[in-house]
Amino acid sequence: MLILDGKAAAASLRQELAGEVAALEKQYGSRPGLAVILVGQDPASQVYVRNKERACHEAGIHSEAHRLPDTTPQDELLALIDSLNARKDIHGILLQLPLPKHLNSQLCLERIHPEKDVDGFHPVNMGKLTLGLPGLRPCTPKGVMVLLERYNLSPAGKKAVVVGRSNIVGKPLALMLGAPGPFANATVTVCHSGTPNLTEVCREADFLFVAMGRPRCITADMVKAGAVVVDVGINRTEDGLCGDCDYSGLMEKAAAMTPVPGGIGPMTIAMLLANTVQAFQQQCAC
Ligand code: GUN
Repeated sequence: MLILDGKAAAASLRQELAGEVAALEKQYGSRPGLAVILVGQDPASQVYVRNKERACHEAGIHSEAHRLPDTTPQDELLALIDSLNARKDIHGILLQLPLPKHLNSQLCLERIHPEKDVDGFHPVNMGKLTLGLPGLRPCTPKGVMVLLERYNLSPAGKKAVVVGRSNIVGKPLALMLGAPGPFANATVTVCHSGTPNLTEVCREADFLFVAMGRPRCITADMVKAGAVVVDVGINRTEDGLCGDCDYSGLMEKAAAMTPVPGGIGPMTIAMLLANTVQAFQQQCAC
């Protein structure tokens, strides 16, 4: 069984991006800048934000984290987004989710200028993805597609099953897999909590993508022999981090699969850097 090593792929992508950033700095006399907003004390979010800052630093991207208390009023957060939208040295804005309950995530995400929306969550960018137009794409599903391409695993003409329909992963991933193109062009089925025969549907998949957020819920009996399995889950359990797949019997069944950790997680961060560079290029080309 082939292990799809996202950590190694992300490391080489980050190195390539560092070279691109250096060349852009020579060309434009300025470098890409990313602002990350973190509201509250969610421990997982704090780790993600720290990792994003470190990755930016290593790639030569300017990054700044805006850490706000969990009592921050909605209008204060919107005012911060407005000020970042107006800054010429900030090309990407990322609002770390989840937000504390009193804040309206959708309203805040829609306030980010679409050209600075490096998460690709703004309705304009989600609309562009749906229509097949160029734009900023959500980092996690983009990381999945890039990892497949790096391993020369094309889902074109194959049956792809996506388990999970979130706006962050499942929905955009299904659109990317089903789009025309050499490393896409799959026949896609999306499953969710209302799918009654999940096992049968998953067993049909040549490519199985799991983004449910439920530890070890996809077991070997749900996977077709020789399938490519991509586990997007990151769950914190008493025994540490684990994905949405139960790896015990899967290793013998699948042809290729991503580990957790070290699979899609590092690819997501690499794609955030790639999106920040893309946003910089678009804003500087005007
Ligand atoms: N929280 C979990 N995943 C993500 C992500 O991809 N982007 C943001 N902004 N928050 C997240």
